[in-house]
Amino acid sequence: MKLINNGTLTIKNLGQEVTLYGWVQKKRDLGGLIFIDLRDRSGYVQLAVRPENEFYSLAESLKSEYVIKVIGKVCERESKNLNIPTGEIEIDVLKLELINKSSDLPFEIKDDVNTLEDTRLKYRYLDIRRNEIKDRLVMRSKISKAFREYFYDNDFIEVETPVLCKSTPEGARDYLVPSRTYKGRFFALPQSPQLFKQLLMVGGMERYFQIAKCYRDEDLRGDRQPEFTQVDVEMSFVNQDDVINVCEGAIKKVFKDVKGIDIETPIMRMKYDDAMSFYGSDKPDLRFDMKINDISEVFKDSDFQVFRGAIDNGGCVNAIVAKDCADKYSRKDIDKLTDFVKNYKAKGLAWFKLLEDGVNGSIAKALTDDNINKLKDILGLEVNDLVLIVADKYSTVKTSLGALRLKLGKELNLIKKGDYKLLWVTDFPLFEYSEEEDRYIACHHPFTMPREDAMENLFDHPEKCYSVAYDIVINGYESGGGSIRIHDGEMQDTMFKALGFTEDKIREKFGWFVDAFKYGTPPHGGFALGLDRWVMLLSETDNIRDVIAFPKTASAADLMCECPSDVDMKQLDDLGIGILEEKKD
Ligand code: AMO
Repeated sequence: MKLINNGTLTIKNLGQEVTLYGWVQKKRDLGGLIFIDLRDRSGYVQLAVRPENEFYSLAESLKSEYVIKVIGKVCERESKNLNIPTGEIEIDVLKLELINKSSDLPFEIKDDVNTLEDTRLKYRYLDIRRNEIKDRLVMRSKISKAFREYFYDNDFIEVETPVLCKSTPEGARDYLVPSRTYKGRFFALPQSPQLFKQLLMVGGMERYFQIAKCYRDEDLRGDRQPEFTQVDVEMSFVNQDDVINVCEGAIKKVFKDVKGIDIETPIMRMKYDDAMSFYGSDKPDLRFDMKINDISEVFKDSDFQVFRGAIDNGGCVNAIVAKDCADKYSRKDIDKLTDFVKNYKAKGLAWFKLLEDGVNGSIAKALTDDNINKLKDILGLEVNDLVLIVADKYSTVKTSLGALRLKLGKELNLIKKGDYKLLWVTDFPLFEYSEEEDRYIACHHPFTMPREDAMENLFDHPEKCYSVAYDIVINGYESGGGSIRIHDGEMQDTMFKALGFTEDKIREKFGWFVDAFKYGTPPHGGFALGLDRWVMLLSETDNIRDVIAFPKTASAADLMCECPSDVDMKQLDDLGIGILEEKKD
């Protein structure tokens, strides 16, 4: 067995005879002495093979990524490299054995390769040899360990829940698995262990956790995969503060164990409505300020139709201020910002700059002295500030300025590297309107406890109903979320009806779940943290594929195994499945 980690050898090991294994990272033939960097998971150490060595010609024939075994003596290097841990020593090779050769590589195993990501995904096992991916997988393991330790230490029981489940409506699209035994029927892969963890509470487990695989057939983004991992938790006899406290304990431990950072608790909380109002997002990035300000008051009686019209139509006028940036943005630059907000349905972007001698910009002429004074006051304006304004319906104003705020934060380098800003977003709406389905759907999921004041509005004003649901947001990422659940069967029934489910549909889809609630269900609540997003945040990447050993592409394919793939007709016959259309690529 391999006993020594190559990257851990130092001057302290001087004089020792060691047996090492690993991959040839680099070979330098100095026309006499041959130097080889021997890599393993821990790093690398330099080998030296002298011309008089009986293995010299074998050393000469070694190529990148050949696997070798070496017996040698730890010696002090003549010219030291203090930038690497093993840089003061080298291994004087006494014996060398070639264990395995390697074919020519599709890309070099080194940091900062500029190979196409698709090629790296096809040869993922080679990509994993690179520090960039390897270090993240090591960090992922440390994060999982810290979470596990925390929950074990706090009396939680780890329970596995099924992967072959019943397809349920609501949420994302399910991945389906056809049944051979019951032709024409399907299992679904779990989008999360939600229903099972609630049934574990009915089952009296009291405190459950699991590091669980979840599957969602949804449009992918930089922080989404079809197959991802949640740290899933549920607790009985708790209220929102209890659940949040437990989660904060876990967060504190992970930051301390993995990054050595002391996170301040309690973590700040912000209501959903405030997050939307000030940051135009339910996952605000608080690493920089630049709040969205409501300036409707200034223009409610104005003659300037663009603003006045929006207000009269029930909308609003909001602004963000890019401090001390007026001289950094030309008219052309601002045209680009205007095109950007149009992607978020804003009709345009009004702007002005506060200069030494007054204001200048697209709406400068429309602003009265009184307008300018009020704006200076509300926005705290100083000379050389750039003010960017959207007037439209509320949701358009908030989402477009929220996105613009993020763009400017990045463009203006307002985000300090290595900074972490955490917050809880609470009091989410109970429902959201789905244009696609033309009805209100559950904002979180249909088992979320409505806030006490929601019950009276459940049927008549769903838009006024809030829930006992919370998300943990880190640096603008939704890194977890949860809620207190409905534990009363009657309330659950009312909720389903408010969502427009008929009795028949409730029975068909959720009968098994609702039935369980008749047998003494404890009050309960919980949360799930997105493990992949945690690794992204702590290892500072915005590409979720960097933190998963074998990820799917952005179009949900596996380039290494080449799937999804065709299957034999026989397999389809067994399942009673036929392919209707000519398949598309
Ligand atoms: P939710 O759907 O908010 O809640 O998911 C919890 C967390 O999982 C992560 N996440 C994802 N990560 C990567 N790829 C995806 N496609 C993806 N989708 C979600 C996010 C998110 O915050 N059952 C509830 C939790 C509960 O109420 O206890 C649930 O699944 O970080």
